[in-house]
Amino acid sequence: MQGLFAILFLCYAVLPCLSARITPQANPTYNVVDYGASGNGQDDDSQAFLKAWDAVCNGNEDSPTLFIPKRKTFLLQPMVFQGPCNPSTINIQVQGTIIAPGSVDAWKWQSNSYKETWLKFSNINGLVINGGGLIDGQGGPWWECFAQSKCQRPSALSFHSCENLQLSGVTQINSPGGHVRINGCNGSRISRLHLVAPKDSPNTDGLDISSSSNVVIQNSKMEVGDDCVVINGGSSFINISGIYCGPGHGISIGSLGGNGAYAAVEEVHVKNCTFTRSSSGARIKTWEGGSGYARKITYEDIVLVEVQNPILVTQHYRIRSAIDARKAVKVSDITFKNFRGTASRDSAVQLICDEVIGCSNIVLDQIQITSSVPGKKTNATCLNAHGTSSSSNVPQIPCLQK
Ligand SMILES: *[C@@H]1O[C@H](CO)[C@@H](O)[C@H](O)[C@H]1NC(C)=O
Ligand SMILES: *[C@@H]1O[C@H](CO)[C@@H](O)[C@H](O)[C@H]1NC(C)=O
Ligand SMILES: *[C@@H]1O[C@H](CO)[C@@H](O)[C@H](O)[C@H]1NC(C)=O
Ligand SMILES: *[C@@H]1O[C@H](CO)[C@@H](O)[C@H](O)[C@H]1NC(C)=O
Repeated sequence: MQGLFAILFLCYAVLPCLSARITPQANPTYNVVDYGASGNGQDDDSQAFLKAWDAVCNGNEDSPTLFIPKRKTFLLQPMVFQGPCNPSTINIQVQGTIIAPGSVDAWKWQSNSYKETWLKFSNINGLVINGGGLIDGQGGPWWECFAQSKCQRPSALSFHSCENLQLSGVTQINSPGGHVRINGCNGSRISRLHLVAPKDSPNTDGLDISSSSNVVIQNSKMEVGDDCVVINGGSSFINISGIYCGPGHGISIGSLGGNGAYAAVEEVHVKNCTFTRSSSGARIKTWEGGSGYARKITYEDIVLVEVQNPILVTQHYRIRSAIDARKAVKVSDITFKNFRGTASRDSAVQLICDEVIGCSNIVLDQIQITSSVPGKKTNATCLNAHGTSSSSNVPQIPCLQK
């Protein structure tokens, strides 16, 4: 009997891992260190992460966790966390720091072509990432290389083809390109992200959404070199709230319709966001020569601090040849409501629409945007823009046609 108790004690108190193997356990934890990751910031921990991922993804337990412990720094090469996985929910707890290789050459991995993405999550449903850790894309050398036209700019994290993604409570810095890309996902919840890259770093978008529906983005701080959030073609039912953006290029729809493409975006609602010294605030940009639409979009309860272009709609984001100029992405049912604060340039509202396919039903209400430059007044510019503007708006928008 005593022997049996001793074995039970060993199993359950001393060797919890072993007991997990004997009795299938809910919520098991797979620590990358147990799979050989060194976490010293020098050794390549990619293979250890892939081994741990294999156990998490292909095991038969409920809601397993890939655990990345704190006070350690893990160096990862460009890699793919591939699904589909067996469990319907998978957690990744990022408590420590993950860093990308420190030089562009180190990314020349397997082939000479640079990877599009550093860490790609493909085909995984029910993925939950949190933990308060840090993800450092080490983008500096990439930005220099791009300035010399020698490099593309890979994104740091990308989620491709997924359902019910949850990403929250991580800090991400210095991505070579976009920080987080979400493509082909349904039902994503993004919150409490802190994304940071220098103001002049090229194309370091915060959050880039494409071909995705039912997305909620909230309570995040984005201080980046390009769009804080960008909604691209094939996306709908996106709610964005509680975002602090600046520096950065604002919360943008598009650009849509590049190189003659069809693009459709609808039901995007941006609320309770603050833009501080960003180049734009609310921005919708489409190319000449594209097709499709951007419609049913609202921006409301927006605070502006010295923003260059607080409200900007343009169907001439990129001008194309005369033949293409007869086509455009249709822009309609756009509401800007309750904007307060300052613009650093005169033209606080710009609605630049296409001659043939103009913008329709653009509504501006409760707009109070004054100039941050003493003695200056803000004004509005329109071209082929149709809709309504309240008479109490500052600036007045007399150029908007009924
Ligand atoms: C997205 O998810 C919702 C709710 O689970 C579902 O009703 C809808 O069909 C899904 N849409 C797509 C495009 O998969
Ligand atoms: C977005 O917000 C609206 C209004 O609060 C709500 O009806 C809708 O369900 C939300 N959409 C998502 C994807 O959560
Ligand atoms: C607005 O956003 C801030 C974060 O920027 C958040 O703290 C606050 O609770 C939000 N307010 C509402 C009414 O949602
Ligand atoms: C806006 O104000 C600037 C500076 O006062 C002026 O040069 C410009 O012509 C104005 N634009 C419109 C459309 O009134």
